[in-house]
Formats: sequence, structure tokens, C-alpha cells
Amino acid sequence: MDRTPTGSGKTRDEIAEAYKSEPWWYDVRGFFILTFAYNSTLGKQLRLFGPNFGPRHLEVACGTGTLLELVLRWRRWKKLPDVDITGIDYAESMLRGAMHRFRGKPNLHFQHADAAALPFDTGHFDTANIANSIHCFPAVDAALRDIQRVLKPGGTLAANVLLYPRGIQPLRAIAQRINDWGMRKGILYTPYEREDIRRRIVAAGFEIAREEVSGNCYNVLARKPAA
Ligand SMILES: C[S@@+](CC[C@H](N)C(=O)[O-])C[C@H]1O[C@@H](n2cnc3c(N)ncnc32)[C@H](O)[C@@H]1O
Repeated sequence: MDRTPTGSGKTRDEIAEAYKSEPWWYDVRGFFILTFAYNSTLGKQLRLFGPNFGPRHLEVACGTGTLLELVLRWRRWKKLPDVDITGIDYAESMLRGAMHRFRGKPNLHFQHADAAALPFDTGHFDTANIANSIHCFPAVDAALRDIQRVLKPGGTLAANVLLYPRGIQPLRAIAQRINDWGMRKGILYTPYEREDIRRRIVAAGFEIAREEVSGNCYNVLARKPAA
């Protein structure tokens, strides 16, 4: 079935407001969403995002940094180098959580910013990750274009994108219920069809380096073409 996303109709400020919740509830809720809506696992996410850290890394929509902290532990376990990381998020409450979590870490910096209007120079970053968030952006095309802009030529973007529920019943129906609730609440803007989000990533100026559909997610590694 081909579906054009209509989106939740929420603005970026309403979305930021919807993300105002207690950290413990955010993490518990996140576990259920990951398992039943994304039909994904933490291991999958670590293997998707963990390797994509260049010397200057941008973590787009970092949230409270729960996943980022696990990814950085995974990197230490794999003996991968420490890098300079800038995290941005539009919800100030989320960002405060990340700042608190990573206080005293000189290689991690956090800034309030909209993914669609990044306050960074063109070609500033080697890599960018968007974990569990593209489908929360009301202006997804502008965000993809701006992330492409701030990457160096040859820089890579890793992202997972929530797809419309697939697979067998009753799992599909459960995922649909969670998505409907997320859109009403404002923590989800819209799920995507794989072809639709792939086309948007390419239209933003990326080449697809690697891609797979796993559970209800499209996992992609995209590259800004070398100059
Ligand atoms: C599901 S959370 C994911 C957080 C984190 N990346 C993770 O995996 O735990 C989605 C995040 O996207 C952020 N977000 C939504 N719209 C945004 C925008 N336009 N610019 C920046 N961040 C945004 C929300 O504030 C929230 O922190």
C-alpha cells in the first residue's frame, strides 16, 4: 500500500512540549516503543550507530542521551576511539537531561537547536547519527538537507526510520495502536513508507551506502558525495 504521510500536524514546539516527561518514564516508555512499535532491539541499534563516529560527530535529536551513553559504552568495549561529539535537541528538557548525564565530559557538547536549522558551518562534521528521531521531525526534508550541509564531503549519516507497521498480527495491530497514541500525544510525527523516506534522503543530496529493513525500521547509512 502506498501512503503519503499526513503527519500529526503538530508543530516543533508542540513536539518539544510532548517530550517533557520524567526521565524514568521516558526510558520505560522508550523500551516498549522500541520493542513493540519499532520491533527492534538495542543490539541492532548499537551495531547501526556505534561504528558511525568520525573525529567530529553530530548527534541529532540526542534526547536525554540514554541511547548515546550506551552507544559510547559499546564503542569503549569495541576499543574504538573517543571523539568530539556535539548533541542537539529541540526539547530543552531532553537536552538538560543529556547535559546532566554527560557533565564533566570535555569531549561532549550540547546545544539547543532544530534539526532543520542547524547553527553550524557547512562541512563541519565527519559523521552524524539520527537515532529514533527522523519520524519525529515536522520538517523532515529541511532537516535532511541541513544535516547534509553540515557534513564534510564524504561524511556519513546513520539513521533508523520508523515504517508503517509490517509483519504478522497481532504484532502489527499493537504497533499501529502505539503509533496512533504517539501521534496523538505528539512524540511521533509520522511513520514512513521505505521508498518515500529513501527518496527524501536521496533528494537531500545523500548517496545510500547501506540499507536494510528490520522489524518496522528502515536502517540506513547514507553518504554526502565526496567533493
Ligand atoms: C524518540 S526521541 C529519541 C532520542 C534519542 N535520539 C534516543 O534515541 O534515545 C526523539 C527526539 O527528537 C527530538 N526532536 C523532535 N523534533 C526535533 C527537531 N525538529 N529538532 C531537534 N530535535 C527534535 C525530541 O525532542 C526527542 O528528544
